[in-house]
Amino acid sequence: QGLLGLSRSKAVRQVIEKAPVSRDVVRRFVAGDGTAECVQAVADLVGDGRLATIDFLGEDTLDVAQASRTRDAYLTLLQELHTRDLTKAGAAEVSVKLSAVGQALPQDGEKIALDNARQICEAAAKAGTTVTIDMEDHTTTDSTLGIVRDLRADFPWVGAVLQAYLHRTEADCRDLAGQGSRIRLCKGAYKEPESVAYQESHDVDASYVRCLKVLMEGDGYPMAASHDPRLIEIARSLADKQLRAPESYEFQMLFGIRPDEQRRIAAAGNQMRVYVPYGDEWYGYLMRRMAERPANTMFFLRALATK
Ligand code: FDA
Repeated sequence: QGLLGLSRSKAVRQVIEKAPVSRDVVRRFVAGDGTAECVQAVADLVGDGRLATIDFLGEDTLDVAQASRTRDAYLTLLQELHTRDLTKAGAAEVSVKLSAVGQALPQDGEKIALDNARQICEAAAKAGTTVTIDMEDHTTTDSTLGIVRDLRADFPWVGAVLQAYLHRTEADCRDLAGQGSRIRLCKGAYKEPESVAYQESHDVDASYVRCLKVLMEGDGYPMAASHDPRLIEIARSLADKQLRAPESYEFQMLFGIRPDEQRRIAAAGNQMRVYVPYGDEWYGYLMRRMAERPANTMFFLRALATK
């Protein structure tokens, strides 16, 4: 919880970003600063049978020009993925945080975010692939689902993320489990109050299972995003119970986390998509990864201590 609080602190961000060791640690979770490094990392993943969804790092922008730069980074990335033949059959797609393309702007934020996201969707359609809209803290859930609905009117393949820690999510899953819908289910990574979110991990896990059940029983395309071995096994058995073909759902994990398990799941004939972040705005992303797992924090602290 403390680390999640710090993930939005400007002062701590400056210290961490300047720490001499940060770059080395970041490399474990982030595919690189620029498009070329990221595309190479994606080519390596696709080469060994995994799929990818790529996130140009950045969030909570309060600058219209920055929102446009983020949009442009996605347009360049999609073009490059297409040129390298990595978008074939949706092998590589992109994930977009609406707050990075303008949602948090005080004036016309939603409109600007929708417009930027629409341009990214157009580029994805040209490249022959899809877009999934990430979910941020609970104050943005309604706005994000509203924008996803608008995008889906023109691009019915646009995916959304739902977070099992929110009390509302089981109902959202029921609303969104229909034909053509692509839903990534994750536990949720933000610091949320008790009034809206389960606080205990066993309650979050139980909610995740209820939500998975709704999605697997529905007609959409569930994307089970978790590194949790128990939840992965439950996802697989719920899919089997519904007689789902392996290509009618997928597993997803983060770049650099449980790579052997990622390869094992892909080799067993299931679809495994890796979320690949890149860019230099890695602070918030890295702090959320450390908050999830003490071992990740220890990795960071050990690296600091040995410098
Ligand atoms: P959790 O972190 O609770 O770990 C459960 C178990 O998994 C551990 O006990 C351990 O057994 C195993 N495990 C985890 N990490 C391991 C490691 N490094 N090595 C070995 N075992 C390990 N969140 C959000 O709020 N909005 C979003 O849009 C997204 N998007 C997203 C996309 C994708 C593809 C993923 C995988 C995740 C997200 N998330 C997210 C993040 C998500 O909400 C969540 O914070 C993390 O996935 C961590 O939760 P887990 O389900 O992995 O379990």
